[in-house]
Amino acid sequence: MMVGGLAVTNVTVAERLNPIPFAGIRKVFEKANQLEASGQKVIHFEIGRPDFDTPAHIKAAAKLALDQGLVHYTPNSGLPALRQALAGRLNADKGLTYSPDTEIIMTAGGQEALYLSFLSILNEGDEVILPDPCFGPFPLAVRLAGGVPVKIGLQPQQNYCYDFAAVKKALSPKTKAIVVNSPHNPTGGVWSEDQLKTVAALATERGIWLICDDAYDNLVYEGCRVSPAGFAGLRERTILCGSLSKTYAMTGWRIGYIAAAEPVINAAIRLQQNIMLSLCSFAQYGAMAGLAGPQDCVRTMAGEFARRRNLVLAMIHDIPGLQLDGFPGGAFYAFPRITLPNITSAQVADYLLDHAGVAVVDGLAFGEKGNGHFRLSYAVAYEDCREGLERIAEAMKTLAQKCS
Ligand SMILES: Cc1ncc(COP(=O)(O)O)c(C=O)c1O
Repeated sequence: MMVGGLAVTNVTVAERLNPIPFAGIRKVFEKANQLEASGQKVIHFEIGRPDFDTPAHIKAAAKLALDQGLVHYTPNSGLPALRQALAGRLNADKGLTYSPDTEIIMTAGGQEALYLSFLSILNEGDEVILPDPCFGPFPLAVRLAGGVPVKIGLQPQQNYCYDFAAVKKALSPKTKAIVVNSPHNPTGGVWSEDQLKTVAALATERGIWLICDDAYDNLVYEGCRVSPAGFAGLRERTILCGSLSKTYAMTGWRIGYIAAAEPVINAAIRLQQNIMLSLCSFAQYGAMAGLAGPQDCVRTMAGEFARRRNLVLAMIHDIPGLQLDGFPGGAFYAFPRITLPNITSAQVADYLLDHAGVAVVDGLAFGEKGNGHFRLSYAVAYEDCREGLERIAEAMKTLAQKCS
């Protein structure tokens, strides 16, 4: 290879990237798109994003900002009026009080919120308790911040909550934080208030952080909506990492936030000054309209997801070779276990795509404990959801005969 007229023979990248593979979901997505390009109808159960358009009033606010020339850098922590709107929403929805001036930073999606949080609190070698299975970037974000991910299996029959006995065993003097992600990706599990209180008590007892990934906080169909930050004494040790992506169908706008005690936000702002500098200006004006405006769009979208979730629940039980061990009370995911012998979840996922035109994600992409499962995202139109489940049922019948 020639770079600037010099021959480069050994191109190496940083060793810190060695444990970081390309996302498992990407492979399925690319293959599904290739099939589609060849003329096949593919049902996209692999994509973790709402299929709705962003509500019109949010788009109008962003367009207006562009027309008004609001196109320049904004403060590192986000527009003051946007932080104010977020503080108002956290108060109205969860009864939480955060100062928009000192306790909130806007981020490029919930994902950047997680990265900034880990970078803000972790010293080299600090351990972070994570769910297994979990959202893929969690362990990588911990590692990039110098930390050590400690994965704890979830209990499907307990709303996919941590096995707390295993958490207690795993806690060490190096443990710095426990991650809570309810509703949960990839299982759709929603923890009960008692379960949240148990993890909150553990954090208090050990003097460690609770990092709440609230990416799906508006997509709860059954179960608890409270935030541990509202429990007595927990506000100062809880870091809320939230997002507008799923709530307002704004995944491409890249708007999220951290709400936490001032020292954490201070650290995150110093990082942001050197990473993003500031977020997209007009996306922030759109976000402001979302947070401060009418919330019926949120209820309408969540209502439609709930309808599809009910369809998934009703149909999945009759599919041979699949077992739903836990209850998906939120987000837009179900995580069935494959009960067929002599076949891996990767092989089942491949078979479903190749032979039924249904894209799902092998559970192993979410961690070791995801092995033997696949993630089904019902963020697709209701009728496609039905067709996809019918196709899976047919394919699993054939597979059951092949595997026995
Ligand atoms: C659990 C969880 N957290 C955070 C995110 C990040 O979302 P975003 O960066 O779009 O806000 C996702 C995205 O799928 C997720 O599933």
